[in-house]
Amino acid sequence: MTESWATSAFGTDLHLDLKGPGLRASLMDALRDAVRTGRLVSGTRLPSSRSLAVDLGIARNTVADAYAELVAEGWLSAQQGSGTRVATRAVPRPVAPTAVPAPPSGRRLALSLVPGSPDLAEFPRREWLAASRRALTAAPNDAFGCGDALGRVELRTAVADYLARARGVYADPGHVVICSGFHHGLMLMAQVLVGRGVRAVAVEDYGLDGHRDLLAGAGLRTPPVAVDGRGTCTDDLADLPDVGAVLMTPSHQYPTGVALHPERRAAAVGWARATGGLILEDDYDGEFRYDRQPVGALQGLDPDRVVYFGTASKPLATGLRLGWMVLPAALVAEIVAAKGHADWMSSSLEQLTLAEFIASGAYERHVRSMRLRYRRRRDQLVAELARRVPGIRVTGIAAGLHAVLELPAGTEASVVEAAAHNGLAVTGMAQFRGAARVSGAVAPAPDALVVGYATPSDSAWAGALDALCGVLPQAR
Ligand SMILES: Cc1ncc(COP(=O)(O)O)c(C=O)c1O
Repeated sequence: MTESWATSAFGTDLHLDLKGPGLRASLMDALRDAVRTGRLVSGTRLPSSRSLAVDLGIARNTVADAYAELVAEGWLSAQQGSGTRVATRAVPRPVAPTAVPAPPSGRRLALSLVPGSPDLAEFPRREWLAASRRALTAAPNDAFGCGDALGRVELRTAVADYLARARGVYADPGHVVICSGFHHGLMLMAQVLVGRGVRAVAVEDYGLDGHRDLLAGAGLRTPPVAVDGRGTCTDDLADLPDVGAVLMTPSHQYPTGVALHPERRAAAVGWARATGGLILEDDYDGEFRYDRQPVGALQGLDPDRVVYFGTASKPLATGLRLGWMVLPAALVAEIVAAKGHADWMSSSLEQLTLAEFIASGAYERHVRSMRLRYRRRRDQLVAELARRVPGIRVTGIAAGLHAVLELPAGTEASVVEAAAHNGLAVTGMAQFRGAARVSGAVAPAPDALVVGYATPSDSAWAGALDALCGVLPQAR
C-alpha cells in the first residue's frame, strides 16, 4: 500500500513497508516482520504513537491500537515512562543475503617486515582527535556542502606552505590538488596524459607493479628505465621513443633506496625541457632521511616540467587516503576535470583536520618523532645483522622506512619461504622487478630482501628482527 521512511523528530527512524488493505493490520504485519527478521532487535524503543502516526500520515489511534495488540501478542512491551519497546525474547537474526567471501588462502603470519607501511600503532590518535575537534568547531557551514575538486583551500594552503619549507617545492595553493593518496593522483594523471595524446610513460625498472599496472590499465605503454647505484639512468630516457612522461622516485628510489645523483637530476630535467615531457615525482617518503638534510624535491628544479606527488600514507597512515599533487599551471584544469568526473571531492572534514594538523605544527612534530624512532630501528637492524649475520650487506638505509639486504645468489625465494615458515612475512626483491621482467631488457639484479623496518609495532619489533636474523644465510 505505502512504503514509508518514518522520521520522527525524536526517537527512532523507522522504515516500515505497509502492504495490503487495512492500515492497522498492515502496520502490525510490518512491525511483526521487522521483529521476526531481526531488523528491530529486542529492547529497541519504538517511536511514540503520535510521532509514528505523523510520519506515516495515519491516525494516532491506529498506531496506538496496533501497538496495544502487539503488546498483547508478546511482540512488544509497554511500560509507564519508558515507551513501547520490542519485547525481550529470542528473535531469529536475518539470514545473510550473500555468502561471506572466504578468507584468502594461506596463513596470516604473526610478524611482518613487509615494506610499505609506517608503524600504525604510532598513529597520533590524541593529536589527530584534537585537530579534528578544532577543525570541526571552526569549519564554515560550506564545509558540509559540496566542495570543489581542487580540495579545501585550508589544506591546499597548509600543504603548499609545508612543502615549500620542508621539501623545497614551489607550491602555489592554486596549483595543489588534493587526492586520495598517490595511487589516485597517478590515476588522474594517467587519464590526463592519455587525453593529451601521450602513448607511453617510462617507469623505473624496480618499482611497484601496482603503479605500472595502473598506467598500463589507462592505455599507456610503460617502458622501463634502468636503476643503478646512482639512481634512475635518466640519460637513457632520450633513447625511448614516444615517452611523454617518466614516473620516478628521485629522493629515495623505491625499493633500492638510492637517491638520484645530482647529475641525473639535471639530466632528467634536461630531457623534460628538450622533449616537452613531464617528470612524475613520487615523493612517498621524502621526510624520512636520517644522516643528513633531506634531499630537496626534484620539482624545485623546474615546477613547469615536474608534477610533484606527496602522500600522508608514510608520515601518518595509509588508511587516511589523503595525498596531494603540485601541478604545473597548465595541467590544473585538466586534472580538476578528471577528478570531478571520478569522485568529485575528498571528505571535507578529513581535509580540514589534516589542514589543522599541519598548520598547528603537529604534523612536523610527529614526523620528527617518527624519524627518531625509525632511525633507531634502522640502527638496531644494521647492528643486529652485523653481529649475527656479518656477511649480509645492507643498502638503501640513508632514508625511508625500508632497507635492502643483499643475499647470496639463488637464495632469495628460499629465505622468504623459511621466514614464512617461522611466522615472519618478508618481501624478496623479485616482487619489484616487474618492469624488467615484462621487458626482458634489464639484467636480473642480485637476490635481496626489502625489509620494512617501520612496519611492526614496538612490541613486535624485537621478535621480527630475531626471526629475520634466524633465517638469513651465513656467509661462507
Ligand atoms: C613507492 C610508493 N609510492 C607511493 C606510495 C603511497 O601510495 P598511496 O599514497 O596511494 O598510499 C607508496 C606506499 O606504499 C609507495 O611505496
